Amino acid sequence: MERLDKILSATGRWSRREVKLLVKQGRILVDGRPAAAPEQKVDPAAMEITVDGADIGYRRFTYLMLHKPAGVLSAVEDKRQQTVLDLLPQELQRQGLSPVGRLDKDTEGLLLLTNDGDLTHRLLSPRYHVDKVYYARVDGRLEPSDCQAFAAGMTLGDGLKCMPAGLEILGPDEALVTLQEGKFHQVKRMLAARGKPVLYLKRLSMGDLQLDEDLQPGEFRHLTAEEVALLQR
Ligand code: URA
Repeated sequence: MERLDKILSATGRWSRREVKLLVKQGRILVDGRPAAAPEQKVDPAAMEITVDGADIGYRRFTYLMLHKPAGVLSAVEDKRQQTVLDLLPQELQRQGLSPVGRLDKDTEGLLLLTNDGDLTHRLLSPRYHVDKVYYARVDGRLEPSDCQAFAAGMTLGDGLKCMPAGLEILGPDEALVTLQEGKFHQVKRMLAARGKPVLYLKRLSMGDLQLDEDLQPGEFRHLTAEEVALLQR
């Protein structure tokens, strides 16, 4: 059970002060009866809560899929530069969402945003072996020996040991890279270590979740219940 004002303000649509007023005006109904007070304890999973007759559509956590465009930081806030949170409407910005891992400023593609900290941890921890697949275009010619080096687990010039990774060559300078970890600039550093610096990078999937091709760069949508279940597996 949670306080009614906490539930309503977590949707990002009303502030706690507004909830107080709505309660006073009798516009919030809990299981068909006017809410008694903002502090009233309710169970949003079991009770019907409406404002002006409309269900509040409460979900404990929010899960968004964003097609991150190049030029935007994977951060919650930044004094000078635009962040992925700036791409969302105000009501979603107030929900305490964070990106699940970082994509570099110039990297595009699938970025999840959620306020479900447990899921974030599981998706990012190498222990859970969640594949992240990237499309990369490089300056150079990819060869089978690059695939072998990726599969063997590379050690980079600065001593960073990488887990075995996938490199599937699509064309002379194009490949799919599959990682189960996400160290700083990892794809770029691995390919640079092979003498083939990355020119373009886009994340296509994370676990079973694929970037929705209908989303243009900068667009987002809520995950469906099925997609959330895929990630929870
Ligand atoms: N690897 C990189 O080098 N950059 C990214 O943005 C993601 C993975």
